Amino acid sequence: MVFETVGVVGLGTMGAGIAEVFARAGIRVVGVEADQEALDRGLGHLEASTGRALEKGRLSAGEREEILSRVTLTTSRDDLRDADLVVEAIPEVMEYKVALFTDLDRICKPSAVLATNTSSLQVTALAAATGRPGRVVGMHFFNPAPVMGLVEVVGTVVTEPGVVTSVSDLAVRLGKTPVAVGDRAGFVVNRLLLPYLNHAVTLLDHGVAARDDIDNAMRLGVGLPMGPFSLLDLIGLDTSYEIMGVLFEESRSERHVPSPLLRSYVAAGWLGRKSGRGFYGESAAESTPEKAAASTVRVEGSQELAATLAAAGFKDSAEPDVVLRVGEAALGERVVQVRVTGKVAELSGSVLTSRQAVLCARDLLRVAGYTPVPCRRSVIDALLYAHLNDAVHMYSSGYASIADIDAAMRLGCGYPQGPFELMESIGLAKVRDGLRALYAEHLSPSFAPAPLLDQLVTAGLDAFPRA
Ligand SMILES: NC(=O)c1ccc[n+]([C@@H]2O[C@H](COP(=O)([O-])OP(=O)(O)OC[C@H]3O[C@@H](n4cnc5c(N)ncnc54)[C@H](O)[C@@H]3O)[C@@H](O)[C@H]2O)c1
Repeated sequence: MVFETVGVVGLGTMGAGIAEVFARAGIRVVGVEADQEALDRGLGHLEASTGRALEKGRLSAGEREEILSRVTLTTSRDDLRDADLVVEAIPEVMEYKVALFTDLDRICKPSAVLATNTSSLQVTALAAATGRPGRVVGMHFFNPAPVMGLVEVVGTVVTEPGVVTSVSDLAVRLGKTPVAVGDRAGFVVNRLLLPYLNHAVTLLDHGVAARDDIDNAMRLGVGLPMGPFSLLDLIGLDTSYEIMGVLFEESRSERHVPSPLLRSYVAAGWLGRKSGRGFYGESAAESTPEKAAASTVRVEGSQELAATLAAAGFKDSAEPDVVLRVGEAALGERVVQVRVTGKVAELSGSVLTSRQAVLCARDLLRVAGYTPVPCRRSVIDALLYAHLNDAVHMYSSGYASIADIDAAMRLGCGYPQGPFELMESIGLAKVRDGLRALYAEHLSPSFAPAPLLDQLVTAGLDAFPRA
């Protein structure tokens, strides 16, 4: 299959970026918009994006001209008659997309491949709306398309052999990494990412920890590029809620029940950055730096933490202001449980712990250079382990390979490591045991260790099988 002319329908956030990606790879692009005004906006996106690349020295003026000259803009779909491939990037509404695909099927030559950039609609349903279901695929780019390195190529049960491979080869030609998957709601990235983000909202809703503390835990403790609430604000709370709905519709799994708090925010019109307010508002009040109110501290269970605090000037005493307990829990008015992950110190009190002791612990850990995360129970364990467990379930179900899932999460979400790489660096036994403890506490299927993980640990292995 040769792709020399490509149509892009809808030149909004995604379509304009997708058109740029093709044009950069030397491919002729026919960009189609609904009307002249939208077409002008689309051209504006293209000019701004390539203009930024020019300013940053990533493109020369000549290259920019060449890229722009490869793009023909039109409001007539009939101009797509010679396209070898058409990528659709109009709004995420099934009715609109079905109408468009029916029309494209009539206009485009029989050999043309029709692709959708949908994030959550069923590709099979779009294929079935055409007379060429075997040549309809998903080509799911990530935002911003010129920057993000991943393309999920979605084949359906009716896709002709070879079409997914040809489109994947094209993605490589575009400088992207393709991951070929079947038509399941959310594909790889959204199916793993959104339930994790939704879970973070549930923890906030249940008062397990505060917004900033949860974001800090995942960003600074786990090393993810953004905390879940910043990311939800970026993706859009409405989009996130819709994707959760689609996942739940398909799986009926407890893990995919959209959070009621997320629904309330959407209903209130708090959609994230696009509406000016989401989990973060217009005027997040800066908290004033606090000083440690404690001067004496005892650390139990970690010589490293004891040494760090001693170096920061805190002394031990027979009657310390606060006892920081690492490892097994203990009860006491001044006892605060601490778990250190990287530079994050999660701290939680028991029913007996005084508020004062928790505040002292928070302040002195901050002075000692940690980012304190007060929480009722570990945020990192709950969020991360359930997220990793989902990845094992996805692999075990035969949906995607370990290498593809890792690549998808690295390239699609900017994770420093894919979920399987991360589990191996944490230790499979630690993840399995963490999940077991969470399951014993919550009895939620999300926390029941995936059988493959459990079996690998039982067999004494510390890595996943890779082909
Ligand atoms: N925004 C993201 O982060 C993102 C990421 C991946 C995939 N997607 C998917 O990409 C698709 C587009 O999303 P978006 O965020 O770019 O939307 P958008 O609203 O920014 O852009 C949609 C564009 O389509 C145009 N349009 C509408 N009807 C049209 C028609 N009949 N013919 C031609 N053009 C038409 C609109 O004028 C608009 O410019 C959706 O399916 C979405 O799920 C979005």
